[in-house]
Amino acid sequence: MARESRATPQPRLPMIGPAHTEDLAAVFGLLEQSGLPKNGLADHVATTLVARDGGRIVGSAALELYGTAALLRSVSVEPERRGQGLGQRLTQAALDLARQRGVRAVYLLTETASGFFMRFGFGRVARTEVPLPVQQSVEFTRACPVTAQAMALYFSAEDSR
Ligand SMILES: CC(C)(COP(=O)(O)OP(=O)(O)OC[C@H]1O[C@@H](n2cnc3c(N)ncnc32)[C@H](O)[C@@H]1OP(=O)(O)O)[C@@H](O)C(=O)NCCC(=O)NCCS
Repeated sequence: MARESRATPQPRLPMIGPAHTEDLAAVFGLLEQSGLPKNGLADHVATTLVARDGGRIVGSAALELYGTAALLRSVSVEPERRGQGLGQRLTQAALDLARQRGVRAVYLLTETASGFFMRFGFGRVARTEVPLPVQQSVEFTRACPVTAQAMALYFSAEDSR
């Protein structure tokens, strides 16, 4: 007869998946808590990912697609959930999505998290190195302060296979 397991129940791992329009209010709440801009995100729900714990949204990451370039934005984790690997899972999922969409270079702007993104191979770049369509995004033109650091990650041909 099978013995009953006495193992301590493990906390549920939030599930990462696509966002829907009805998730936007919760994502905006999260961005506000994290001090990140909301401007323009509503136009990119189709390429926004959320982390769900049961019915609750506890993290987000979004891509804005501009041909073979993409802007990674709104990487955010609920303050109580930080330091548990969720930010890295969300970032990785957004980069996987970018590869699936044929993106060759991902750009972002950050004021405080350049060290976090370096883990994924992002390097600091001048804003002038960023392709024009990305530079013309709401995030670049209006939402992020001019002091925010631009970063880039270039995929190799093997990455896209
Ligand atoms: C940045 C953020 C998404 C990280 O999420 P998280 O779930 O705490 O990250 P993880 O648990 O996956 O990773 C934690 C690791 O990243 C490091 N890290 C977290 N935030 C960092 C930051 N701002 N700068 C540098 N490193 C950072 C931690 O020190 C930790 O390092 P360790 O593994 O060596 O201990 C989260 O802190 C957040 O929402 N911040 C506010 C919003 C923000 O700044 N977003 C980025 C700009 S879009």
